[in-house]
Amino acid sequence: MSWKRSEKLMDTIKHYSNFPATGVSLRQMVQFGERPSTGTLFRASQFLSEELPIRLAHRVQELHDLPDGLNEMPSIQRVRDWYAQSFEELVTLPRPNLSSDIKDRLLRPAKSNGKTSQMVSKATQNPSIVKGQYRSAPEHHDNGNGNGNGNGNGNGGLHGPGRQVKGATANRRYFVAADDAQEWPPELAAYNTKFAESLEKIKRRHDSVVTTVAQGILEWKRKKQRMQIDHNIQAFLDRFYMSRIGIRMLIGQHIALTDQKLRSDPNYVGIICTRTNVRELAMEAIENARFVCEDHYGLFDAPKVQLVCNPDISFMYVPGHLSHMLFETLKNSLRAVVERHGQDKDEFPVTKVIVAEGKEDITIKVSDEGGGIPRSSIPLVWTYMYTTVDQTPSLDPDFNKSDFKAPMAGFGYGLPISRLYARYFGGDLKLISMEGYGTDVYLHLNRLSSSSEPLQ
Ligand SMILES: Nc1ncnc2c1ncn2[C@@H]1O[C@H](COP(=O)(O)OP(=O)(O)O)[C@@H](O)[C@H]1O
Ligand SMILES: [Mg+2]
Repeated sequence: MSWKRSEKLMDTIKHYSNFPATGVSLRQMVQFGERPSTGTLFRASQFLSEELPIRLAHRVQELHDLPDGLNEMPSIQRVRDWYAQSFEELVTLPRPNLSSDIKDRLLRPAKSNGKTSQMVSKATQNPSIVKGQYRSAPEHHDNGNGNGNGNGNGNGGLHGPGRQVKGATANRRYFVAADDAQEWPPELAAYNTKFAESLEKIKRRHDSVVTTVAQGILEWKRKKQRMQIDHNIQAFLDRFYMSRIGIRMLIGQHIALTDQKLRSDPNYVGIICTRTNVRELAMEAIENARFVCEDHYGLFDAPKVQLVCNPDISFMYVPGHLSHMLFETLKNSLRAVVERHGQDKDEFPVTKVIVAEGKEDITIKVSDEGGGIPRSSIPLVWTYMYTTVDQTPSLDPDFNKSDFKAPMAGFGYGLPISRLYARYFGGDLKLISMEGYGTDVYLHLNRLSSSSEPLQ
């Protein structure tokens, strides 16, 4: 069954794309606590059922307006249709019919019982974002048009963001504790489950967005006989993939929160671990990278990696993001070491991973003796699809089920995407090379966790 976009849908998308997205910080995401109530989850789903369509609409619009014929590439259009279809599913999801009593309760702030309720922390400007590159919107855009979404209007048709209700700006917040003094009706729980199911379907649909967009760029390069991608396309990809990280974070978090009743680890709020242990994750990433390296080069023993890290260092983070960044940088180092010193060496210089803990940042340095990178190539390592692998492995859209990290190297996405992950929560990734000797990668992770997502 193939999906078709209608004119009417595209008009609605255009309308939504006029609204700015609202940034959320890691700390705000954690405020749900381990087990949010049905009412609180419902409030969050109301925020998301407006916020996600806004973010999706921006992407549809941007894909639609890409310059120089890039918007006409089949893979780009495919991705645009996924975004449009997901948009449609979200805005047409029927809302529950609620009694006015329940609606009132949902709009009322929770009675403060000394715990989480009123203490919604403010998101601050993201320090990793250059002015003008993304917008990082710490405050919800308050121009007097809140939304009236607490009152589910049970209609199944397309409805614009419900911003008619004046003064109800509190609804445009991600986390609002609901008034849990009494039981919530079963329709609310049923809706929450349904909403989470829709999100799961959408998340799966977008699994191979990164490879499909990359495919679209390749189609375009081939058609236009381009060797490199220019600054505009690079900036578009940065925005696009950064936005994808944010959308998937919100979706993944909501699915996990809804599912939380099954969970028992008190250190987790959704997919965020409030005590992410750096040493454990680093050890795992080292093991995985060495394994992939042995497999790729047919080595009995991959180059060694030494880890210097206090075993107690832990902080609030998404373990999946940190693993991704470590794995990508370690693979790069191991590859450089093997290729510099030759596959048939018995012994390789050791790559060092050093973890430092400060008040503001946790910094991880990955130092290798893989020969470094010529200074003139440094800007290139941050461009998508720049790789020194001769033969890019084939872009099979199904291989990246675990988010684009299977192969040793060859897509040129490792560094730029890792830097986006770091910046997403206010960190950064820097690379310094000594040509003829080796490379140091600094991964700065912001532990204050209050910075807003970079938005566009
Ligand atoms: N530690 C390193 N030492 C030497 N070169 C590196 C290192 N890390 C990255 N590079 C260079 O940067 C390029 C891009 O890296 P990356 O974005 O991870 O893509 P890929 O690994 O798929 O090529 C690599 O192909 C390599 O030439
Ligand atoms: Mg790489």
